[in-house]
Amino acid sequence: MKKYTPITLSAQCILLFLLISYQRHLSTASENAANKMYIVYMGERKHSDPSLVVDSHHNVLATVLGTSKETAADSIIYHYKHGFSGFATRLTDSQAKIMAEMPGVVDVIPKRVHKVHTTRSWDYLGLSFSHATKNPYANSNMGDGIIVGVIDSGIVPESKSFHDQGLGPIPSRWKGECVVGDQFKSTHCNRKLIGARWFAKGAEDEINTTAAIEYFSPRDAVGHGTHTASTAVGSLVHDVSFKGLALGTVRGGAPRARLAVYKACWNLPGNAGACPTVDQLKAVDEAIHDGVDVLSLSISGDRTTIDPLDIMLLHAVAKGITVICSAGNDGPRLNTVVHIVPWIITVAASTMDRSFPSPIMLGNNRTIMGQSVFTGNKETGFIDLGCPSDFSDASTCNCEDIVPDSRMKGKVVLCFASTSDLQIANVNQGLGNIVSSGAVGAIIAIYRSQLISCYEWQCITVDYELGAQILSYTQSSRKPMVKLNPTKTLVGKPVSTKIADFSSRGPSMLSPGILKPDVAAPGVNVLAAYVPTKEKSFQSFAFDSGTSMACPHVSGIVALLKVLHPNWSPAAIRSALATTASATDPSGETVFTIEDPQTVANPFHFGSGIVNPNRAADPGLIYDMGMTDYVHYLCSMGYSKSYSRSTVCPSKKPSILNLNLPSITIPNLRGSVTVTRTVTNVGPVDSIYVASIEHPLGVKVGVKPPELAFNSTVKTLSFTVTLSSNHKAIGGYYFGRLSWSDGIHKVTSPISVRTEIIPSYTDGA
Ligand SMILES: *[C@@H]1O[C@H](CO)[C@@H](O)[C@H](O)[C@H]1NC(C)=O
Ligand SMILES: *[C@@H]1O[C@H](CO)[C@@H](O)[C@H](O)[C@H]1NC(C)=O
Ligand SMILES: *[C@@H]1O[C@H](CO)[C@@H](O)[C@H](O)[C@H]1NC(C)=O
Repeated sequence: MKKYTPITLSAQCILLFLLISYQRHLSTASENAANKMYIVYMGERKHSDPSLVVDSHHNVLATVLGTSKETAADSIIYHYKHGFSGFATRLTDSQAKIMAEMPGVVDVIPKRVHKVHTTRSWDYLGLSFSHATKNPYANSNMGDGIIVGVIDSGIVPESKSFHDQGLGPIPSRWKGECVVGDQFKSTHCNRKLIGARWFAKGAEDEINTTAAIEYFSPRDAVGHGTHTASTAVGSLVHDVSFKGLALGTVRGGAPRARLAVYKACWNLPGNAGACPTVDQLKAVDEAIHDGVDVLSLSISGDRTTIDPLDIMLLHAVAKGITVICSAGNDGPRLNTVVHIVPWIITVAASTMDRSFPSPIMLGNNRTIMGQSVFTGNKETGFIDLGCPSDFSDASTCNCEDIVPDSRMKGKVVLCFASTSDLQIANVNQGLGNIVSSGAVGAIIAIYRSQLISCYEWQCITVDYELGAQILSYTQSSRKPMVKLNPTKTLVGKPVSTKIADFSSRGPSMLSPGILKPDVAAPGVNVLAAYVPTKEKSFQSFAFDSGTSMACPHVSGIVALLKVLHPNWSPAAIRSALATTASATDPSGETVFTIEDPQTVANPFHFGSGIVNPNRAADPGLIYDMGMTDYVHYLCSMGYSKSYSRSTVCPSKKPSILNLNLPSITIPNLRGSVTVTRTVTNVGPVDSIYVASIEHPLGVKVGVKPPELAFNSTVKTLSFTVTLSSNHKAIGGYYFGRLSWSDGIHKVTSPISVRTEIIPSYTDGA
């Protein structure tokens, strides 16, 4: 078949039309079978009346398909018509090319599939609603009145975390709905769960309820959506524990905020939590229509381009909705962070001050502390211990190589898990083989900070170093033995905070001048609501780990901030969270990384630091931003036309370094550079702030003016920061801080600088 070369439109319209009709005659069933789902994005809505928006979609599609408007209408999968204009449909590759040239079409985006990215955490963060003096959230009413939208795998509506006891009526401005479906009735919504919608069209061809449980309704089959939603806004549920561990009250950050669930992630066979972009965009569009205040997305993204999802989220931000996303689980490699745009709050994952120590006593009377969440055990007494190679034909001690073997029966097996994330499934497969062989337990030496999913069975994780010590004992002892003891919960100071190794790291691959992630929050072993376990009880709670679990912590805090500061922009909220975040944990200890306990966490690990909700309520100064700034960012990145065809960029590319971010990141300092920032006083009217600097190694930092005086007429002031370096060679990044203080507030921005080779060095003989 002839290849169609795209031609620029307007005068060629009729020719185009004929050509397409011609092509359609030629198209065969096989070409139709190759049709792919596309999103045709048409920018901002041109009409306030959704029916006119829909009509414009039918027109453009009818032209491209060469059909009647009615036929075109039938082939539209979704209309996006509230937050922005566009539609999802199936097109051949050549139709997609023609579509991209149609008037009004901003972008034609092929369907992609993202992935969904686990309560001690609130006490850890110091968030309380008590009416004690100086508690900033005493009058936040626990977030009542704020509507948090969660785009994820749906919800288990019966979970106790979504009860509506004591809540007033649904806010009258709410325009959302409770959409029914499989095992989901309108009565499943209440004054807590005020909206529930589901969007399956991007996934329905692959959903196979025989192979993987799924519901064509807002009901969650995966657990991820229930977990994230209950972390953000779960109602108070007392005395929850996981089989006696972590006993306490489980609650979300904003227990009285209202919840709107948008299910766009599906349980596909072998791919739990798959989120087709066509469904996600529909969720964003409807959430904007419904009137959410906060959008929480624990969903993956792309690190090499600005993701279409992130572009559409700008429409939400334009409406004043604060958007929070997870940074990704691709750490500890650098440059892995996603959701890198400046209008999104991107969250990294840290541990908290809780651990589940599980004593392992070796036959030589030495006790080693492992971690486990299995509590079914009593003290075992001494049992034979060995590697897979001691009890089977396996030739190594690797967890991945384990095959079932009856010789493991009644023993404890020590194995070493691969360092690669991709191998985790194989590790679990290996563990499955240990279980099926009738072993009593397993000790897994693992690099990742996550507890492996063996809650139903006795497996204990240790780090590689401890694993090596146990191995050396088994090799030196004639009859190696081990005694396993019940797990305990430890909270408080003995366990210091670390950034999770899986948490994706900056700098952003695409725009290293913008610090990402923004902040960190607890994301390791978080206990929250989940899908019912075997016992079929709807009071299920489970541990889970990931930046997915960190993100809704910030979403909950944002809901509370919105009660206290209803007029703050999304950028102001982000600034408040960032400038008050802390490089130390709540007990004042330095934060390190899990993968290397000697490495102090830096801005590429945790952005500005661990969120501090209490300080964020009263930040003193904010670095604000608006749509103009975001559009300038898109202009600098060469993406302005992917948001709106009519975007007018300034003739000179705006410098990304001057975006009014609450951080300063210079990826390629040559000699010296000056950046400008503007701060708005949101604290006491008459305040004087003085700058202080922690210099990055070898970099001079000058602030002008060094003092900012605010009064009733002066609310906003600008200052410049000049950074200069005398480094002789390109190096890694060096980190420092700029802080403004009035004696009460401390407004801190991380500084990250990498220097480039200075010419005289390379030019010299
Ligand atoms: C659905 O899954 C079952 C069980 O794995 C399989 O037998 C069946 O062929 C699948 N159906 C389709 C339509 O793929
Ligand atoms: C371990 O401790 C027990 C009781 O204290 C003692 O009887 C035993 O000899 C010790 N074993 C070793 C190898 O030290
Ligand atoms: C506020 O400060 C500015 C600049 O110092 C000054 O010109 C102005 O008079 C002050 N306004 C009040 C009300 O004090």
